[in-house]
Amino acid sequence: MMKITSFQAYHVAYQKSIESPDEFWEEMAQYFSWRQPWQEVLSGDFASARSEWFRGAKLNITDNAIDRHALAQPHQMALIWEPNDPQTPTRSFTYLQLQQEVMKVAEMLRTLGVKKGDRVCIYMGMVPELTFAVLACARIGAIHSVIFGGFSAKSIADRLEDAGAQFIITMDAAQRGNKMIPLKSVVDEALSNGYPIQKVLVLDYLHTPCNHAHHDVDWKDLYQQVEAMNAYATKGQEMDAEDPLFILYTSGSTGKPKGVVHSTAGYMVWTAFTFLNVFQYQPGEVHFCTADVGWVTGHSYLIYGPLLNGATSVMFEGVPNYPDAGRFWEIVAKHKVNLFYTAPTAIRSLMSAGDEWLEGKDLSSLRVLGSVGEPINQEAWQWYHDRVGKGNCPIVDTFWQTETGGIMISNLAGVTPQKPVFATLPLPGVLPVLLDDQGMEITENNVTGNLCFAQPWPSMIRTTWGDHERCLLNYFTTYPGYYFTGDGAYRDEEGMYRLAGRVDDVLNVSGHRIGTAEVENAINHAPQVIESAVVGYPHDIKGQGIFAFVICDHQHEMDIPSIQTKIVKTVVEQIGPIAKPDRLVIVSGLPKTRSGKIMRRILRKIAEGEFESIGDTTTLLDPSVVEEIIRIVTANKVAH
Ligand code: WT7
Repeated sequence: MMKITSFQAYHVAYQKSIESPDEFWEEMAQYFSWRQPWQEVLSGDFASARSEWFRGAKLNITDNAIDRHALAQPHQMALIWEPNDPQTPTRSFTYLQLQQEVMKVAEMLRTLGVKKGDRVCIYMGMVPELTFAVLACARIGAIHSVIFGGFSAKSIADRLEDAGAQFIITMDAAQRGNKMIPLKSVVDEALSNGYPIQKVLVLDYLHTPCNHAHHDVDWKDLYQQVEAMNAYATKGQEMDAEDPLFILYTSGSTGKPKGVVHSTAGYMVWTAFTFLNVFQYQPGEVHFCTADVGWVTGHSYLIYGPLLNGATSVMFEGVPNYPDAGRFWEIVAKHKVNLFYTAPTAIRSLMSAGDEWLEGKDLSSLRVLGSVGEPINQEAWQWYHDRVGKGNCPIVDTFWQTETGGIMISNLAGVTPQKPVFATLPLPGVLPVLLDDQGMEITENNVTGNLCFAQPWPSMIRTTWGDHERCLLNYFTTYPGYYFTGDGAYRDEEGMYRLAGRVDDVLNVSGHRIGTAEVENAINHAPQVIESAVVGYPHDIKGQGIFAFVICDHQHEMDIPSIQTKIVKTVVEQIGPIAKPDRLVIVSGLPKTRSGKIMRRILRKIAEGEFESIGDTTTLLDPSVVEEIIRIVTANKVAH
């Protein structure tokens, strides 16, 4: 794979990638093993989200992520698993061992009847078997759809239905810090409406008691059967370049989460290219991405990107503050981590725990630090740089999205300039533009605008599962001819980008994307709720917190704390604990215009505590609700 090692080389590569993308990506593609070459590098139509990359090519991504390395460097470590409890032994797998495990799981899935193109939902904790399951799907051409362990039964049911999934892979329970998550019983509940699932493969991990349904199959039993069959020679299924590799659900500003579809070849080339170049990976280095595989960061930079490069990837089961706030640094020291990739929310939380947790931890192996998922603030950036990196590790602030498949805007560690709190420059192949609200391109610098991409890139979203219209509507129609990120961005005099947060009704809570409409829908399921409005507000650790304003029936006769508890419980049932409102007030009215539109701008100001700068309220149907809401919010402050 081409590694860009100077700023000059970056300019050359960038220029070429924009002027002749076909040539550029054809060259990048030479570094992979293909079963059959492509007929055309880029084809289709960007404006209708019908771009195709490497059309006609045949491949299996695991030929490149596993088999190639199992042959060339069989004893190189592929995966190091660090358990939740530091006393539990680490499990590690060389490329050869990873290959054998993935082959076995692939064979298990085949035995269950999983075929190419089938959708397999994976709802597991962060254990090696999760990685095997993902790669086993890829190997047999099944489309994996990983669901984060923090989602509720209702959320799983919605996703199963939307994806038309035939299979689920889960485990009895997962552990995160001192919490136990009974995954299997959540799956049982998700299936309780009679969803026609074919098989549920269950890994008995913590040996907690579970129900056994007729469609359940025990992982270990099947594993033993397959092992006895000696299924080691299974080659990966031959896939078309554009065959879907996975579906990953993510929130938007409207409706239910949508299934973002990524295809095989473009995603492979992009994740491999960006991992190598952004982190400037050197052979033999250890990479620790702290994200859960349930999010796209885990897909692209815990599994695919590092493995495609033959790197060693660390997978951590637990959470940053268990058993204490020194855990990440212990892991770094223990496994001699060179590349460390985490989210600003984790950095802020560890920073607030105090510097003593860094003391005595040998962080000298660290070479590059990465940040992802939300804008990083100056203070957190500085702490990360000075205290974690001891002033000598470049920080890559990587901007991208579930839909982009991989990193889009970032400095290349130590190669292109870094600028605190700036994602900086686009990667080769990425053509960012800032548009004003009328959709006009803003060409000068020192400006803020709506961030779009003007050119297709190999790992761009292919469709939203089962509903291409929705894909068009969400990303390609706001500004025709462009892919719209939903983010605002500032561009400085040198053309460097700083992300400014979402410009739509999407929140970013601890690096997790949550739609305000989704939370409102959940709240509206609670008994007695008539209407609700949800906005984000700045939160010291989480980046954004969720602020809910709720109108209830007969609220004067009720005990407010008990309604609040019921509403929060409903949100947890409908979506999961990640969407719990941080603040929730019961109000008797919402600020609406005469046409009935809720003025979120006003609610955002209230949530931020900016009572003085609420602005014009004369267009409201009833301006007095604003004062009432402020009164309630101020009175409630202490309780929440
Ligand atoms: C949204 C995408 C990218 C994988 C994890 C999140 C925000 C992401 C940055 C960054 C500022 C960022 C954007 C984006 N975001 N990275 N480096 N600086 N904001 O993926 O859940 O699809 O969320 O996260 O708002 O649109 P996601």
